[in-house]
Amino acid sequence: MTGERLGSFGPGATAVTGIAELVTNDPAAGEGPLGLVRDAALVVDGGQVVWVGPTARCPAADTAIAVDGAAVLPGFVDSHAHLAFAGDRAAEFAARMAGEPYAAGGIQDTVARTRAADDDVLRANLGRLAAELRRSGTTTFEVKSGYGLTVADEERSLRLAREATPETTFLGAHVVAPEYADDPAGYVDLVTGPMLAACAPHARWVDVFCDRGAFDADQARAVLAAGAARGLMPRVHANQLQHGDGIRVAVEAGAASADHCTFTTEADLELLSGSRTVATLLPGAEFSTRAPYPDGRRMLDAGVTVALATDCNPGSSYTTSMPFCIAVAVREMGLTPAEAVWAATAGGAAALRRDDVGRLAVGARADVVVLDAPSHVHLSYRPGVDLVARVLEAG
Ligand code: NIG
Ligand code: FE
Repeated sequence: MTGERLGSFGPGATAVTGIAELVTNDPAAGEGPLGLVRDAALVVDGGQVVWVGPTARCPAADTAIAVDGAAVLPGFVDSHAHLAFAGDRAAEFAARMAGEPYAAGGIQDTVARTRAADDDVLRANLGRLAAELRRSGTTTFEVKSGYGLTVADEERSLRLAREATPETTFLGAHVVAPEYADDPAGYVDLVTGPMLAACAPHARWVDVFCDRGAFDADQARAVLAAGAARGLMPRVHANQLQHGDGIRVAVEAGAASADHCTFTTEADLELLSGSRTVATLLPGAEFSTRAPYPDGRRMLDAGVTVALATDCNPGSSYTTSMPFCIAVAVREMGLTPAEAVWAATAGGAAALRRDDVGRLAVGARADVVVLDAPSHVHLSYRPGVDLVARVLEAG
């Protein structure tokens, strides 16, 4: 809240002053849905935002960072990333750009390489991608398993992911493991039984790829129900490759998010707008698979809550850049620059059911991005330019 102070500042408090435009995502604090405050300052202490208001009224703090003329926003919240893998699929991408279609089958290539990699290789790859995320302004990110597809390989993917983030997702139901190619029902039994039992201690979420070449609606329901019985909250890869049941399955399960939503009907949008399930759009996936972009404008106009995420993975979307996703969502999905910034911060937080991140109001985590630009609009107005000047994580 503007001008409000939370207790007294400790010796380590830091004031960020001279902010040309502060995105709070707190409509009570400023203008519009982004809660924009001009000529603003904020004070962080103990990893939290403790004061937000005009620079002229900023209380003294031990350390001051003057960012004169810069826009400041909450760290990006990337609610969908597959960072536990080895190898890449550059040749597959090149073939696709030369006319080959994208198919879920490419996942098996990464499964083979991930299984063959030792822990240090997977940990180093995760660390490298997490560092890329941070450099481009992401301060909260989710990581899925899904390239192991054995009990041991899924368990270690999640164990290593947990070293990097608390937002870990069990995606044993990414595709049917090669050993079960002729017995998909047997694979679902493995996923919902011993694999889930081994993975649940390292996971917060359960996910399933409900689409062509992956799992059907009944299989997806079984996976989500088994996960829920172990305390994992549901999220769903839905409607990426074709129209189908993914969104319905997600909404019926009370999923926090239905991700991709590339192919939607009016009925799908009605289901989403009447629920708490966020539609997480992944512009990198349509970009890198030459798929049609979903109509984000239509979703927002229908009252759907929209998030943006990278979907970082070696097959369909090998980017860690939320600024890239923002720019593409504005250009290709019909979001305004402000809507895209909201979707990449507060929207991502909603997709992870978090209220401590994705906003810069008193009491929120002090995850702060300073842009080398005077306004949030520049994130889409200057595509491909590295505008993230500084990232403060929990202060
Ligand atoms: O979200 N859709 C399923 N999974 C990934 C793709 C994984 C891959 O191609 O390796 C996605 O796009
Ligand atoms: Fe994905």
